[in-house]
Amino acid sequence: MNVSNLREEALKEAEAIENADQLKSFEIKYLGRKGKLNDVLGLLKTLSIEERRELGPKAQKLKKELEEIVAFKTKEVSLESSPQIDITRPGKKQELGQLHPLTKIQNEIHDIFMAMNFSVVDGPEVETEHYNFDALNIPPDHPARDAWDTFWIKEEVKKIGSRKLLRTHTSPMQIRYMETHEPPFQIIVPGRTFRYEAIDSSHEINFHQLEGLMVGKNVSVANLKYVIETFMKKLFKRKIEFLFRPAYFPFVEPGMEVDIKLENGKWLEMMGAGMVHPRVFEEAHLNPKDYQGFAFGMGIERLAMIKYGVPDIRLFNSGDLRFVKQFKK
Ligand code: PHE
Repeated sequence: MNVSNLREEALKEAEAIENADQLKSFEIKYLGRKGKLNDVLGLLKTLSIEERRELGPKAQKLKKELEEIVAFKTKEVSLESSPQIDITRPGKKQELGQLHPLTKIQNEIHDIFMAMNFSVVDGPEVETEHYNFDALNIPPDHPARDAWDTFWIKEEVKKIGSRKLLRTHTSPMQIRYMETHEPPFQIIVPGRTFRYEAIDSSHEINFHQLEGLMVGKNVSVANLKYVIETFMKKLFKRKIEFLFRPAYFPFVEPGMEVDIKLENGKWLEMMGAGMVHPRVFEEAHLNPKDYQGFAFGMGIERLAMIKYGVPDIRLFNSGDLRFVKQFKK
């Protein structure tokens, strides 16, 4: 029986211990009830007194040493397997999400128009030349097409007017809605629109418009004025001065642009508007002798820029959370 051999074997094994399982089996193997050390201590009884005197203290010393190693290794493996938790540290604050300013203003716009009995409808972003231009009284050779710089979709063209494009305004929904609904009705169409333009602080190639359309037997310019003025006052929550200027859009007659006076005293153009052109009714298979209507179209980003004081239209699509977080309630 050799205590020093046993010691060497144990120390070597202890060095290789890396986890709690290995430590446990080490402890059982050497210090357990049926472990190697107890074997040694049990054997002592069979030895002579001299031998016991020599081996007894050595075995006891080894036992202590192994117990110390186990205690030390226990700390070591527990440190490695479970990170220390300091329960006195302050917790991590959970960040709440929030609505993008464009979503926020669209929700407000919906509420204002729904209170005036308008319905909110949606239309396709990829349009045909027919709905975006021809049916709105803008034929291919019409110089007014130059006012809308268009993203065309590369595709084989099968029929006249079926060329595809990204809608340059929400006005095509005037035709689509009138084709499928019997007046009287009043709708707004919020949605994404696209223009092939140079981008700067007030121009985006990808922006949003709000179209309005009201059709009935006796809809007049007075109704147009009332709806637009009510909407603007409710959105900006203040008295506003308006300027209705004559302007040309092929799909309305008379056509106008509406300016509002900003708080700094400057006039700013907010939208195009007018009475639905008889040709447009015809394109949508409604008899212009039976119906009258008004339409308007405005940029939603521009509304948001004024309402929230946003200096640059590019911020809306920037994905910059520092911008979005400014609109926290
Ligand atoms: N669609 C026009 C534009 O994008 C705006 C407009 C809409 C004008 C409805 C008149 C009537 O510029």
